[in-house]
Amino acid sequence: MAIYPPPQRLWWREPVERMEIWWIVIAFAWGLVMFFTMIAWHVYGRQNLANEAYRIQPETYVARVEAGATRYKVREEGQTGVPVVHPPPGADVYLLGRLWQWWPILELERGQTYRLHLSSADWQHGFSLLPINVNIQVHPGYEMVVTVTPTEAGEFGIVCNEFCGIGHHTMTGKLYVTDKTGGR
Ligand code: CUA
Repeated sequence: MAIYPPPQRLWWREPVERMEIWWIVIAFAWGLVMFFTMIAWHVYGRQNLANEAYRIQPETYVARVEAGATRYKVREEGQTGVPVVHPPPGADVYLLGRLWQWWPILELERGQTYRLHLSSADWQHGFSLLPINVNIQVHPGYEMVVTVTPTEAGEFGIVCNEFCGIGHHTMTGKLYVTDKTGGR
């Protein structure tokens, strides 16, 4: 019965089975392979975003987002009242994460390059662009700047992938990429 100790108190002092040694060697070697793959992938995998980060006061950032939205607004999204913002190619584009939305809706042009700024007004959020795999953590007080060139036209979804409270699952946004140059 398990409630009694084994008869020999030093029951683990046994020679390691040959098969077990092999498993330890394989597991250790595989661990090393994975470790160096991780480093190699960082350098050669072309998985890293071209990004910059700055400190910024949340209020300052919100003011910049609002200024950009006012300046480049082309229409509103349906009945939602959310502005659709179409900045000129090459421009600085501001997107705000806050409880619980991504604001405003951006419209970019395919093949053009933009500096996309991301920050939060309140808590930590996670910018996740769907269906392509772009993920960036968004913190209040830090401004991330990502250089982006959309390669595909269409409608993309933005969700929040960091839990940020009761409305987390409703925190969505949208990004349009148009084929034609010029606003509507
Ligand atoms: Cu914002 Cu979850």
